[in-house]
Amino acid sequence: MNRPIAEFAGTGRYTPVRVVTNAEFEGTLDTTDQWIRERTGITERRWANDEETIAMMASTAAHQALADAGIAAADLDAIVLGTASWDRLLPSQACDLQAVLGAHRAAAFDVGAACSGFLYAVSVAEGMIATGAARHVLAVGAERLSRIMDQTDRATAILFGDGAGAAVIGESRNGRGILSSYLRSDGRLGDLLYRPGGGANLPADEQMLADRSYYIKMAGREVFKNAVRSMADACDQALQQAGLTGDDVDIMVPHQANIRIIESTAKHAGIPMDKVYVNVDRYGNTSAASIPIALDEAVRAGLIEQGMTVMLVAFGGGFTWASMVVRW
Ligand code: ACO
Repeated sequence: MNRPIAEFAGTGRYTPVRVVTNAEFEGTLDTTDQWIRERTGITERRWANDEETIAMMASTAAHQALADAGIAAADLDAIVLGTASWDRLLPSQACDLQAVLGAHRAAAFDVGAACSGFLYAVSVAEGMIATGAARHVLAVGAERLSRIMDQTDRATAILFGDGAGAAVIGESRNGRGILSSYLRSDGRLGDLLYRPGGGANLPADEQMLADRSYYIKMAGREVFKNAVRSMADACDQALQQAGLTGDDVDIMVPHQANIRIIESTAKHAGIPMDKVYVNVDRYGNTSAASIPIALDEAVRAGLIEQGMTVMLVAFGGGFTWASMVVRW
């Protein structure tokens, strides 16, 4: 096993105030609370109000992570932010976050990897630390998916939620930190989960408003099958690189998309469900924000303690998938 180069020095999160229950959809969509709970494991999710922008949610999560790490925003060398639901399309969300935080020394940029965005961001941070380009990097996953999903489409409207999570990644001390990380993509499958309109190919016009092509489109069954397959691959690779097996994992924090995908991933990795952190019932799928929100909850609940072996695993649009084994 290689010596860790980078570690999680601090974590933080923000989840919106407004809780949206399954029952609220029963009045507007052809669906039921029972269907949503049985097919997804989701009971409720949080949707942002007008003040809860990505910049606001991400900066609140970032302040907690900075305090936890014992550093100031001015100490950051870089901000790497994963999102699929930017407050605005230009400049990057990371630059807007940098301005709010006052992290004036930091290079700031986004990574586009949908639900895998946070693990991609942490992996970039690890690389910057390894090359000496940075000592402290803020990795963020933040989403406001309620603004880019079709409220009339029962197959997607019930799934997604909003929120933000952040982590300060710093130089490893005392043998703690990231033991392995694995990133993969398959762009041939991009059209199974995408937003066709609003980019330079199909710029905003009346047709785009009429055909609702600026909203997320998803082939749920195909996404489900690929998620199960890819998250299994991601578990295998991260464990193998770290020279560990599922038996060595103290806690797994997976991307929270669907309880059935989580159960299948845990079973493949040989990790019992009592060692898997689950909050999909309370937040739904918050895409890039899902792992850092869950991670921070688990840390602050005392479920993750120094010395524990933690496995993180994600899958998202692209398709992208990623995993990481961390000695906490
Ligand atoms: N309420 C009631 N019925 C519904 C609903 C709903 N909300 N949504 C779909 N259905 C119907 C379908 O129309 C279909 O009806 P039909 O048989 O008459 O055609 C039936 O339920 C079964 O549909 P499936 O899509 O096969 O249902 P499935 O059991 O696969 O569950 C779900 C659908 C929950 C979307 C599932 O496929 C899933 O979780 N997929 C993965 C989604 C995911 O993880 N997306 C995020 C990826 S990460 C990222 O980057 C954002």
